Amino acid sequence: MSNFKNLFIRKTLAELDFEAENHNSLKRHLTAMNLVLLGIGCVIGAGIFVLTGTAAAIHAGPAVAISFAISALGCMFAGLCYAEFASMIPISGSAYTYGYATMGEFLAWIIGWDLILEYLFGAATVAVGWSGYVVSLLQYLNINLPASLSQSPFIFDQNGWHASGAIINFPAMFIIGLMTTLLVIGIKESAKFNNLIVLIKVAVILLFIGFGISHIDTSNWIPFIPENTGTFGHFGWSGILAGAGVVFFAYIGFDAVSTASQEAINPKRDMPVGILVSLAICTLLYIAVSLTLTGIVNYKELNVAAPIALAIDKFGSNMMWLSPIVKIGAIAGLSSVVLVLLMGQSRILFIMSHDGLLWKSFSKVHKKYKTPHIATLLTGLLAAFFAGFFPIGLLGELVSIGTLLAFVIVSIGIIILRKSEPNAARSFRTPWVPLVPILGAVICFVQMASLPLDTWMRLIIWMIIGFVIYFGYGIKHSKARLKRISSESKKQYYK
Ligand code: ALA
Repeated sequence: MSNFKNLFIRKTLAELDFEAENHNSLKRHLTAMNLVLLGIGCVIGAGIFVLTGTAAAIHAGPAVAISFAISALGCMFAGLCYAEFASMIPISGSAYTYGYATMGEFLAWIIGWDLILEYLFGAATVAVGWSGYVVSLLQYLNINLPASLSQSPFIFDQNGWHASGAIINFPAMFIIGLMTTLLVIGIKESAKFNNLIVLIKVAVILLFIGFGISHIDTSNWIPFIPENTGTFGHFGWSGILAGAGVVFFAYIGFDAVSTASQEAINPKRDMPVGILVSLAICTLLYIAVSLTLTGIVNYKELNVAAPIALAIDKFGSNMMWLSPIVKIGAIAGLSSVVLVLLMGQSRILFIMSHDGLLWKSFSKVHKKYKTPHIATLLTGLLAAFFAGFFPIGLLGELVSIGTLLAFVIVSIGIIILRKSEPNAARSFRTPWVPLVPILGAVICFVQMASLPLDTWMRLIIWMIIGFVIYFGYGIKHSKARLKRISSESKKQYYK
């Protein structure tokens, strides 16, 4: 067998099923409800609490609600493809494992390496957002955390890198440390914490919508789609599309549910529910929040770090009590996003190591806690480093491009899977194949194409680093390749 052919070696569905049945060192604790809540726990975060305002003020005006709907459409198409894969493959690893089953090891590596951008950098980005909210809540309580200890030491803007004067973003590192500890202690404990947080953040959002409705001034919705200023992406329909690209970040995370397949009690039945129900609930909440927000505050005033808090200020002095509650809700909400993203990352490292593509120690499981503690600690250390020393904007765009690439590949993967495994049992089938996967891939690719060239360059550099590790280590230790080579040499021997 040539080396080239070996690059595209696949793991069959039967092999994946066998692994799930016989080599699962993790504990199966998660119910369908836990999975839906993990999805919501990971999705609702910085996107809705921070980016909605920017997207409305700079790109779409009140029509940011349409931006949310468009972005949801791309996610829903990709989510339907994730759901079919998840209903067939009960192994951790999400898109990485799906890639291994359909397109072979080399593409699986590309996806696994790419997912690091989504989960590791995502956790760092949201931790920086968490830090911002904590600093502002502390200020409200008259406690001033010095800027030198709560910001990145670097700034990156059109003039390149320069020093900010700060030393470290300590709160961002703190939340990552805390969530990492929880993940090491146990998946059950982590899920319980997540359930509680989801309850708080959804309650806060419903409170905002509930009290907000009576403060809507419908004149703020006129015109609903402000006229384009003559520049692409500044209002009008092009602004709505640009807004969709910005708010895409708000949907990131529903796919993280599928990294926990090995910890779900009935993954084949419950994974599609976890992915699709969490996505549907978040879409409805997002559209409702953005309509309420732009109805209360004129979109021109919304380019602020905490748009929902700004809207509450407009409720009048008798409603001031709601403002700190929303901040606490946002702080709690962002912490569960960090938690689930870190979980996703550690499970990707775990399974890649289990497959021999990364160092063996990453797939060790803690004797008492039954969690991949080394992969989790490494994830926590790296995420804390990025959160402590890098600016949020730079991290955020890498997260979006990484996630979109995974969505494109998973969507294409479903078309391949229907050809390669047409008769395999699936408890969920993506409707209208190949239309839905093609639309998913196209919508996500168009969103990737709209990201700045710099972000593409960083993606390419990231991939080159990945290739060096794959060809330097993974290719030599891949269990699937070693197994195939040994069975081929036996055949040669007995010929
Ligand atoms: N969707 C997550 C957030 O908005 C990443 O924070």
